[in-house]
Amino acid sequence: MSTTSSGNAEGVMEANAEKRGHWSSRLAFILAATGSAVGLGNIWKFPYITGENGGGAFVMVYLVCIAAIGIPIMMAEVMIGRRGGHSPVNSLRAIAERDSLSKAWPLVGAVGVLAAFLILSFYSVIGGWAVSYVGTAATGQLAGKDADAIGAIFSGLVSDPGTLLLWHTVFMALVMVVVARGVSAGLEKAVSILMPALFVLLLITVGYAMTSGHFGDAVAFLFEPDFSKLTTKGVLIALGHAFFTLSLGMAVMMAYGSYLPKGISIAKTSITVSIIDAVVALLAGLAIFPVVFANGLEPGAGPGLIFQTLPFAFGQMPMGSFFGTLFFILLIFAAWTSGISLLEPLVEWLEEQKGMNRTVSTLGAGIACWALGIASILSLNLWSDVHPLGMFTMFEGKTIFDLLDFLTANILLPLGGLLVAVFTGWFMSRQALENELNLPTSGFNLWYNTIRFLTPVAVAIVFIYNLV
Ligand code: PHE
Repeated sequence: MSTTSSGNAEGVMEANAEKRGHWSSRLAFILAATGSAVGLGNIWKFPYITGENGGGAFVMVYLVCIAAIGIPIMMAEVMIGRRGGHSPVNSLRAIAERDSLSKAWPLVGAVGVLAAFLILSFYSVIGGWAVSYVGTAATGQLAGKDADAIGAIFSGLVSDPGTLLLWHTVFMALVMVVVARGVSAGLEKAVSILMPALFVLLLITVGYAMTSGHFGDAVAFLFEPDFSKLTTKGVLIALGHAFFTLSLGMAVMMAYGSYLPKGISIAKTSITVSIIDAVVALLAGLAIFPVVFANGLEPGAGPGLIFQTLPFAFGQMPMGSFFGTLFFILLIFAAWTSGISLLEPLVEWLEEQKGMNRTVSTLGAGIACWALGIASILSLNLWSDVHPLGMFTMFEGKTIFDLLDFLTANILLPLGGLLVAVFTGWFMSRQALENELNLPTSGFNLWYNTIRFLTPVAVAIVFIYNLV
């Protein structure tokens, strides 16, 4: 690869990559990237937006978005990270300098780092809900309660800033401990235990759901498309969720890609991670909907689906305290590994740019994020009437929590993905792309045309629709 005049720069990049350490194997990278991708998005958000958008047809569009848009962008992000060999901002800078491109490109990484930071601030609050429900389920508080009593537990939690702060703090501390220990000591070890455990726990929950007598209804709901139930907005939600669930548009996969050793296939690993992510979401659906149907609950119940209706179901089923505890432990695992990946890009950047050591940069970034999370906590209760940008129709009635979610998922994230697609498809040298991806010609052309044309156009449409 070092045959061109840029061979020297390449050598410098590789030396830097050696210094930073690598994933110990392809499997380690897959585990880490899967740990990032699989999170609250799969287990909490996917089932409830599927419920709200009518099931099968929505699921189909979501899967098409993963395949046609998510996978090509994931490949692009991992490739930028590995080629640059630095934190996202500096990887983009290194590539832009080598190929004599605009100095503005590193801003794409900066947008991603900012988005990840903003997401983590409220993601940690929801992760905290999961932590809280482990105790609720384990102490038998769900057993035999009716739906109103279960609802009261949930509203009791979200209306109590002190309790929310406690669990938010616990969640953020869990994330910081792993990030502070660094990639091979902390991240890799954590994910290589947590991810397989998560998968097993999920299979057990699905196994239980199969005995509910309504498994067939859930399968029909998830896999029999009824296009009359699909709205234009549903298509947009599916596309946006494909980004969120695969951790794209946020520099996260760039950060992880920078630890990927040369010689490992980016296409194969990206496809593997995306398939696992989709399978976990579908398994979560198969775990949740049989229980929903068996208990006559409402599939379109919204964000409260797993925190209100599932605890109700756990309260009714035999061994419900056990299964409920297991389920929320599973959710913490999933959210934890995603939270780690949301903090990582900023910590990397602080280390490189500000010369801080890993502990100090983790503390700085983590505490700042924790502090911002307090605004989200308060917007669930004391500040529930505060609507900072309420004068704009687009933001009408949105609390700080809602705004952070909207700003990241509907603005920063599609923007990041669009720019990544344009950068790789239209600005990076084709030779460099071919070298990094190392695919057969037909495979390369398929990816190249997708990232140049299909992806930017599709993402631009979502972006514009969301704004207008
Ligand atoms: N993909 C994660 C989920 O589905 C969330 C996430 C988004 C994590 C972006 C990292 C970066 O929950």
